[in-house]
Amino acid sequence: MSTVDELRAALPNTAEVNKAGHLVIGGCDTVDLAREFGTPLFVFCERTFVDRASSIRASFAGATIYYAAKAFLSKAVCRLAEQQGLGLDVASGGELHTGLAAGFPPARMIMHGNNKLDSELETAIRAGIGRIAIDNLEEIERIGSIARAAGRRQAVFLRVTPGVTADTHAHIQTGHHESKFGLHLRGGAAREAIVRANAHPGLELRGLHAHIGSNIFDADPFQESIEVLFGFLAEIKAEFGLEFPELNLGGGFGVPFVAGDRPFDVKHLGELVLSTARKAAESNAVTVPALCFEPGRWLISNAMVTLYSVGAIKQASDELTFVSVDGGMSDNIRPALYQARYAAILANKAEEEAGFAVTLAGMHCESGDLLAEDLPLPRSVTRGDLVAMPATGAYNYSMASNYNKKPRPAVVTVADGQAQLMIRRETYEDLVRLETE
Ligand SMILES: Cc1ncc(COP(=O)(O)O)c(C=O)c1O
Repeated sequence: MSTVDELRAALPNTAEVNKAGHLVIGGCDTVDLAREFGTPLFVFCERTFVDRASSIRASFAGATIYYAAKAFLSKAVCRLAEQQGLGLDVASGGELHTGLAAGFPPARMIMHGNNKLDSELETAIRAGIGRIAIDNLEEIERIGSIARAAGRRQAVFLRVTPGVTADTHAHIQTGHHESKFGLHLRGGAAREAIVRANAHPGLELRGLHAHIGSNIFDADPFQESIEVLFGFLAEIKAEFGLEFPELNLGGGFGVPFVAGDRPFDVKHLGELVLSTARKAAESNAVTVPALCFEPGRWLISNAMVTLYSVGAIKQASDELTFVSVDGGMSDNIRPALYQARYAAILANKAEEEAGFAVTLAGMHCESGDLLAEDLPLPRSVTRGDLVAMPATGAYNYSMASNYNKKPRPAVVTVADGQAQLMIRRETYEDLVRLETE
């Protein structure tokens, strides 16, 4: 099996190898893309995003699907998400601004954040944002009074922490009792928030929201979360006679990064969520609310690859060879931040056997700037070769920095053999443009 076949699940749907032995994405030869746009380069396969959007819509029929903008955001992606019938989950003033600048309908947006600024809330509410997820008790009064001043009754969710610990890296678990996000079911904060939000004339409480973490592969924690939430909904109904029309179950669906990672089965999750919700609703004597989801990674991660050029190659010992590339932790912080694993192939030698284990090193002044360890590449790897790293669509460009004064890479969209620049590469001039003296 070729490396491309082994990585099929992590690569964009359109990945293939041409007669020259080059990796092709969206009908574009990646060697040509690197020549035209330079490296490091994010290559976005529009087809993959569109396919994922339609398969998630089919798996969660009737549900509202918000694309979680934090994974990757640009005006072009906002427009694509809108065309695909998705809503937009924004978690900061900047994400909100980008959505509005793209002309995304505010009524189809939801705003998140554990520390939303008044200015962000004012902009969101005045723009007519569809939903705001309340994260803590003090937000209830702030959001309610900003809404009243704007002459609105703001539709809100209450973000709750169901006390579910998903099997993922600790930094991306969010549903456990120690999480900084949301109102805890244990201890009464969520109950208190329902009472206050329901009584506020500036707020229309639509329901609960729970996001249990990111890059989760197993459906069990979602099932557990639903059972906990319905148990709580039953208590609220019994105590206050209240039933809510919506329930937002967040995102967090895992994606394949390396060979052997199995794709997360959203169809199975869709069926499981529905049957669990129905059963839990029945046994708790509550009605099933309209469901909402907010995937980010699942929609976009596998739609992108990053192209890097190989530079210095250093054989540190018999067992250790460093292959350095012209990017690193400034365009992909995830290996350093949470030991995320990535695969890569030589895009200009995609058919050569990859049996030479190397460490793929970034160019930054940090020993921890290693993009992949034990990575099999062809033994012929040499300066000037092109590395393609799959599954870099989510939390890569959006977490990019200018560390070492490295300009951020360009992002190019590929579809049907055409490449279009989505975000231009930063220049050295960009790096000093904010300085005032
Ligand atoms: C509230 C909320 N919704 C959705 C997401 C998207 O998660 P993912 O990209 O893993 O689907 C996140 C990620 O942190 C989140 O905090």
